[in-house]
Amino acid sequence: MKYADIGLLANTHVRHLPLSLENKAVIEELVAQHGSPLLLLDCQVLRQQYQLLKHALPNVTLHFALKPLPHDVVVKTLLNEGASFDLASNGEVDMVRRQGVDPNSTIHTHPIKRDSDIRYAMEYGCTRFVIDGVNELRKFIPYKDQVQLFLRLSFPNADVFSDLSKKFGCNVDAAISILQQANDLGIRISGISFHVGSQTMDPQRYVYAIGRCLEVIENAQQAGLPDITTLDIGGGFPVSYGEEDLNIHEYCAPIREALNKVPNKIALLAEPGRFIVGPAVMSVASVMGQAIRSGKPWYYLDDGVYGSFSGILFDHGHYPIDVFNAEAPRVESVLAGPTCDSIDVIDEAIMLPKLNDGDLIVTRMMGAYTSATATEFNFFKKANIVALNE
Ligand SMILES: Cc1ncc(COP(=O)(O)O)c(C=O)c1O
Repeated sequence: MKYADIGLLANTHVRHLPLSLENKAVIEELVAQHGSPLLLLDCQVLRQQYQLLKHALPNVTLHFALKPLPHDVVVKTLLNEGASFDLASNGEVDMVRRQGVDPNSTIHTHPIKRDSDIRYAMEYGCTRFVIDGVNELRKFIPYKDQVQLFLRLSFPNADVFSDLSKKFGCNVDAAISILQQANDLGIRISGISFHVGSQTMDPQRYVYAIGRCLEVIENAQQAGLPDITTLDIGGGFPVSYGEEDLNIHEYCAPIREALNKVPNKIALLAEPGRFIVGPAVMSVASVMGQAIRSGKPWYYLDDGVYGSFSGILFDHGHYPIDVFNAEAPRVESVLAGPTCDSIDVIDEAIMLPKLNDGDLIVTRMMGAYTSATATEFNFFKKANIVALNE
């Protein structure tokens, strides 16, 4: 389907202006065709985000992390742009296999795996895996001649949506000992990786982590261990959910500078997820019904916290929500989801004009960790994803 002319999602600078009537007609047509709730996936934005990051990190191979939006069209679109892929589960292996992704352009970055998971990915042809400890290292003894491992280091970061170093990664001080044990077992650890945390607003987090990784690489060399030939700087690249514009090229300037210090013989990888898909999806939900409670209007939508807005709970998400009759006077209102649970409230104090049952609510920046973590609690169906500009 082609809606290239409407600039629905791609135009990041119109993000906070009232939605145009022109877009209203298109969205109403899509709802008439596909029903509500919907998630509109704009492939043009996917391409744009991929290219923006590619230009911001020119010497880095981008492995799109499927987890924020595992969807065939996303994989197909990014594959056509030349992307590589980051996998973490058998379902993700299935998805890239289905799209004909070359397994040599994939890495499996889940640090904790069952033997059956390792074999599943290897049967597909993926040979690069992440470990973060000796227990996980030992699982590769049977496959040591077929795989290359990356050792994930932890860099705790309390300032982010999701501090991934709390759950994964080894202490920097333990790295040499693990590299040594791998060497003793005859297993090749050829890379070092990290994840500074999702939606990392401060690029200095990457700068610090890159510096520490370089120390580990140097120490390994001095200890006579095999060369580290890959540095994987993970995901975490941020998008703007608020009023401010986030220029990814400027954001990455200190990261580019830090990467300039990495010897040329070391290949550079990244595992971006949110940055690629976050801005590429707009959610459309409809008002199912309404009530006045304690003097405040409550609007009940056909999508909520158990559905596409699951990121409110799982991702600390706060999304730009808007309506079409933006000029009308607004009062403080409550937007709730459809389920019978009281936690299913999207916003308890949102300024909204008077809405009628059936009115549409549109929310931007809904691509990352939204549909991916949605449930069908109470049998309210997950929003259909409709791809535009494929
Ligand atoms: C190993 C790994 N790589 C990449 C990502 C993607 O991170 P982000 O969406 O913050 O770019 C994640 C997110 O959980 C992850 O766990």
